[in-house]
Amino acid sequence: MTIHAVVLAAGQGTRMRSSMPKVLHPILGQPLAAYALEAARLATGSTPVMVVGHQAEEVQKALGASADYVVQEPQLGTGHAVLQAEPLLKGKSEVVLVTYADMPLLTVDTLKQLIDVHHSGCCAVTMLTMIAEDPRGFGRVVRDTEGRVQAIVEEASATPEQLAIRELNTGVYCFDADWLWHALKEVKVSPKGEYYLTDLAGMAVTENKGVQALAINETSEMIGINNRIHLWEAENAMRARINRSWMLEGVTIIDPNMTYIESGVTIGRDTVIWPNCYLQGNTEIGESCVIGPNTIIRSTKVGRDCTIEASVLESALVEDDVEMGPFAHLRKGAHLASGVHMGNFGEVKNSYLGPGTKMGHFSYLGDANIGTNVNIGAGTITCNFDGVKKHPTEIGENAFIGSDTMLVAPVKIGEGARTGAGSVVTKNIEPYTLAVGVPARAIRKLEKHD
Ligand code: UD1
Ligand code: CA
Repeated sequence: MTIHAVVLAAGQGTRMRSSMPKVLHPILGQPLAAYALEAARLATGSTPVMVVGHQAEEVQKALGASADYVVQEPQLGTGHAVLQAEPLLKGKSEVVLVTYADMPLLTVDTLKQLIDVHHSGCCAVTMLTMIAEDPRGFGRVVRDTEGRVQAIVEEASATPEQLAIRELNTGVYCFDADWLWHALKEVKVSPKGEYYLTDLAGMAVTENKGVQALAINETSEMIGINNRIHLWEAENAMRARINRSWMLEGVTIIDPNMTYIESGVTIGRDTVIWPNCYLQGNTEIGESCVIGPNTIIRSTKVGRDCTIEASVLESALVEDDVEMGPFAHLRKGAHLASGVHMGNFGEVKNSYLGPGTKMGHFSYLGDANIGTNVNIGAGTITCNFDGVKKHPTEIGENAFIGSDTMLVAPVKIGEGARTGAGSVVTKNIEPYTLAVGVPARAIRKLEKHD
C-alpha cells in the first residue's frame, strides 16, 4: 500500500503575535514544524507534502528538503488545504495521512498505529480521536447508539448535547486516496466561507464508505500550538520526553526540569548532568562525564571521563579526561587533547592544546598550536590580532610560559623553553632557552630534563 502524508501549515498563526511564521518558532533548537515532518516521514517512509500559505517562502526556505511543498492561496479551510496536494499525490499514493505542522509531539508510533488501523479495516476514513476533559475548542466526534462514528461537529455549530461530548477530533486522519480526491471536491462551503476537512466524516457515512476512529486517552502528544503558552507547554513536554529517554539510556540527570537537551544530542552512559545545562546542536558527550552545573555546550564533541563545570563550549572538540572550569570558554575550532586542564576564566579559539597541557587561570589562546605537557601561566595571552590580520602562535612540548606573558604573534616558542613572568615575546624563542623582559630577550640556555 503506498502512503504519503499531507502536513497542513498554511494558517496564519495570528495568536502567536509574531513576525515569524508560527511553524518556524523553535522548540529545543528546531523549528516546531520539523518534528511533525520527521514523524510523518518516518511513519509513511516518504517525503511529506507540506501545505504552506502565510509566509510560504520563509517556511520553505527554513525547512528545505524535509518536505515537498504546495501553496494554498487563499486559505479556504482545512479541506481546501488538503486538496492542494492532489496534483502531487494523485495516482502516486493509495492512502493519504493528514496531520498538522503545529502538533510537534505527535509520535511516529501513534501515526503508525493509525495507519495500521486504516489498513486492517475497510473504511475510507480512519481518524485519530482523543478522550479528554477539556475540549479546548476541538471538533466533537458524534457516534450513533451502536458506537459508530457519524460525523465531526465543529464547536461553533454544535448543539449543547454535542458540546458535552468528550471524544475530540485531533485533526489527524488516514484516507483512501481515490475517495479523498473525489470527496474533497464535493465539500460544501461553511457559513464562514471555508471548506472543512471534517465534513468528510459525515460524507463517508452518507456514501456508505465507512468511518472508523482510533480513540486514545489525552496525552501531551496532542498539544497543538496556537499561542506562546502552548509553545511553552510543548517545549516542556518535549524536554521531558528527551530527558526521560536519556535517563533510560543510563544518563543521570539531577534535575530534568532544569536540563535542556536538544533532539540532535547524544550522551554516553554514566554521564551525570547537573542542573541548568544546555546541550545543543549536534553535541556528542562521551561516557562517565560530569557536566555542569551551569554549562552550555553547542555543537561540540566531548570524549569520556571529562569534567566540565560552569563553562561554555561552542563548535569545539574535547578529548578524554579533560577537566574544565569553572568559567572556561571554548570557541570555534578549539581542540583540547586528552588530559588537558583548563581552569577559570580561560578562553580558547581555533587552537590545539596537546595532551596534558595545563592552562589554569585567566588566559586567552587564539590561533595557537600548543604541544604536549605545556604549562600556560596565569594571564598568558596570545596577541593574535594586529588590527588587520590574525597570526599564529606555536608552543613546543614541555614549554613553560610564565605568568602574564604576552605572545605577540606570529611567534614560536621552542620545545622546553621558558618565559619569565610579565615578558612580552615579540621574537621566536629557541628550544630550551629562558627569555625574559619587555620585549623578551633570551638570557640563558636550559638543561633538558626527561
Ligand atoms: C481543526 C478541525 C477540528 C479539530 C482541530 C484539532 C476543521 C474544520 N476542524 O480545527 O475538528 O478538532 O483542528 O486541532 O478541520 N490550515 C491550512 N489551511 C487553511 C486552514 C487551516 O493549512 O485554510 C492548517 C492550519 O495551519 C493548521 C491546521 O490546518 O495547522 C488546522 O487549522 P485550524 O484553523 O487551527 O483548525 P481548527 O479550527 O483548530
Ligand atoms: Ca488549531
